[in-house]
Amino acid sequence: ARIEKAGHKHFMAKEIAEQPTVIGEALSYYLSGDGRRIVLPDPGLDFSAYDRVVMVACGTAYFACFAAKYWFEKVARLPVEIDVASEFRYREPPVSPRTLAIFVSQSGETADTLAALRYMKGKAATIASVVNVPESSIARESDVALPILAGVEVGVASTKAFSCQLTVLALLALEAARARGTINDAALDDHLTSLRTLPGIMTRALDLDETLNEVSQALSEATDVLFLGRGQMYPIAHEGALKLKEISYIHAEAYASGELKHGPIALIDAHMPVIVFAPHDALFEKTVSNMQEVMARGGKVLLVSDRVGLEIASEGVWRTVQMPEVPDFLAPIVYAIPAQLIAYHTAVAKGTDVDQPRNLAKSVTVE
Ligand code: G6P
Repeated sequence: ARIEKAGHKHFMAKEIAEQPTVIGEALSYYLSGDGRRIVLPDPGLDFSAYDRVVMVACGTAYFACFAAKYWFEKVARLPVEIDVASEFRYREPPVSPRTLAIFVSQSGETADTLAALRYMKGKAATIASVVNVPESSIARESDVALPILAGVEVGVASTKAFSCQLTVLALLALEAARARGTINDAALDDHLTSLRTLPGIMTRALDLDETLNEVSQALSEATDVLFLGRGQMYPIAHEGALKLKEISYIHAEAYASGELKHGPIALIDAHMPVIVFAPHDALFEKTVSNMQEVMARGGKVLLVSDRVGLEIASEGVWRTVQMPEVPDFLAPIVYAIPAQLIAYHTAVAKGTDVDQPRNLAKSVTVE
C-alpha cells in the first residue's frame, strides 16, 4: 500500500506522531498475553551464555546502542562495548565465543553495518540484529533477527525507528537481567508494568508539540546549539544534536554535562542556546550544577525536565519544557520526543526540506 502523510505536513511529523502506536505494537510482540513475561522470537537468545556484548550501528541506530549500553550494564551487569560500524571492523577488535554482537539498523542494508556484521561472522560470536526490515540483508545474515515493528519509515531522519529500537533494546536488557539473575521477580515485574504504560506517556510527551514549536522559533535563529545530558540522557543529547544537524543544518554538538568544563564551556555566550535534558532522577542535582555553570557565563539554557525538576531548577533559565513524569528506566525513550520535535519545528521554521534533507540518504549502501 502507498504510504501517505495522513494529514501531516511531512512524513517526519507523521512518524513522530505514530510512536505511541508502533511502540505499543512492539510491546505486544515481545510480551506474553498477560504482559508479564518477555518472549523473544525463535530461536531466542540465551543471555547466560555471554559475558560481553558489542553493539554496532551507524547514525541514529548507533545512539540507540549508546542508550542501551546504560541499560544492559545497569540491570544485566553485562559489559557493553559500542562502536560506529565504520570504525569497528578496521580496529580488528578481539572477539571471544562468549560475545554477543548486536547490529542495529532500521533499513538492514547499511553497508558499513553489514560489513561489520560479516567481520563478526568470521569469529565465533553470536550475531543478533535489531532491524525494521525483516527481509533485509542484515536480518538474513544474523543468527537471531529481532524486528522493531516500526512500520515503513519514509523521513530520512529516523524517529519512530529510534524509539522502537530503544523499546526492543530495553526489553532485551531486561531479558538479559532475568537470564543472568541480576534482577529479582518484583523488580522485573515493575519494569514490565511501567513499559506497558510507555505508549500513554509517549502520547503525553507528544502533547508538548505546540510548546516545542514555540521554543523552536527562537532556536531557528541560532547558528550553534549545544545539547547536554548526563547518564542515560547523554545518548539522547547526541540524538538531539544529530537530528538538529540533519534537518535544520544548524551546527549542534552533544556533550556529557560533566565534561562541559573540560572544553566546550569556552564556547558559552548569549548566542548559543544550550539544551539540557534532565529528568528529576538520581543525577539531577549534578546536571543542574553544570547548567548553572552555563548560566553563570551568560549562556541561555532550555531546560527539558519534569514538574519536580522544574520546581527546583527553573530560576534564571531561558526557556523550560515540562515533560510528563517518567519511570527512570524509560526516560531515554520519552525524552527522544522533545529531541525530535525541536529538530522538526526548527527545520520547518527555517524552511528546509525536512523529509529529504540535502546530502543525506535514507539508507547508505556504499561504504
Ligand atoms: C543514514 C540515515 C540515518 C540512519 C543511518 C543508519 O545515515 O540518514 O537516519 O540513522 O543511515 O541507517 P540504518 O538503516 O542502518 O539504521
